[in-house]
Order: sequence, then C-alpha cells, then structure tokens
Amino acid sequence: MKELVWDKTLSVTVDEIDEDHRRLVELLNLFSHSVAEAESPEYREALLEELIACTVWHFRHEERLMLKYQYPDIAAHKAEHQELIKSATAFQQKYLQDGGKMSDADFEYLEHWLTEHILIVDMKMGEWLAGVM
Ligand SMILES: [Fe+2]
Repeated sequence: MKELVWDKTLSVTVDEIDEDHRRLVELLNLFSHSVAEAESPEYREALLEELIACTVWHFRHEERLMLKYQYPDIAAHKAEHQELIKSATAFQQKYLQDGGKMSDADFEYLEHWLTEHILIVDMKMGEWLAGVM
C-alpha cells in the first residue's frame, strides 16, 4: 500500500501551516488505506469528502495569514488554490463515477496534487511569513 510520509522536506517553517499539512497527509493516507482495505463505499466517500473539506478550510487559513502579513504574491497563490480545489472535485467525481476504484496512478495523482503545491508555492509563502510573523 502506498503511503505518503510527512518529513522535514515538506516543512514550510511555519508551525501552524505545517500542522495543517500533516493533517492533510494523514487524511490522504487514511483514504488510500480505506480503499486498499475495502472499507465500505460510504466510509471511503466520507474520507475523500473530509480531505477536500479540510483542504478548503486550510486554504482559507493560509489566505488569512497572507492577508494579515501582506504577502505580495497573494493573488497568484489564491488562484492556485482555486485550481487545486477544482482538480480535487474533478477527481472526486471521477472516483464516484468509477464506482470507488482507485489505482496506484490515482494515488500518485493525489500525492502530487498535495505535495507539489507545498514544495513550490507554499515554501515561498512560508519563507515570507517566517520573516514577518
Ligand atoms: Fe497554499
């Protein structure tokens, strides 16, 4: 079973953001395990829904911090959040249409969906926030 491991390479050096990211990684793994362990479709769907809802909440959290500390790149960062939510809901629709099947490639897609944003866009924001908070 594939598992995403949170380690220091994913740290954006702002504790409250790292905590959110850890939670998202945990939910992604729970979802992936629930598919591998053939939990009920309702339970799996609830986990995917929770992952997306927590991501929406987490993006609001980051956006509030960017506003408070006047992060100069906020518009581009928010636009990327919107795209990520769009791709997550598209994934969810496909997952439901496919009857709850999930391949290794699907997991890699979700893993990439979560980590690429953290490693590139959030790192930049974290560097800024760590300097002004
Ligand atoms: Fe972000």
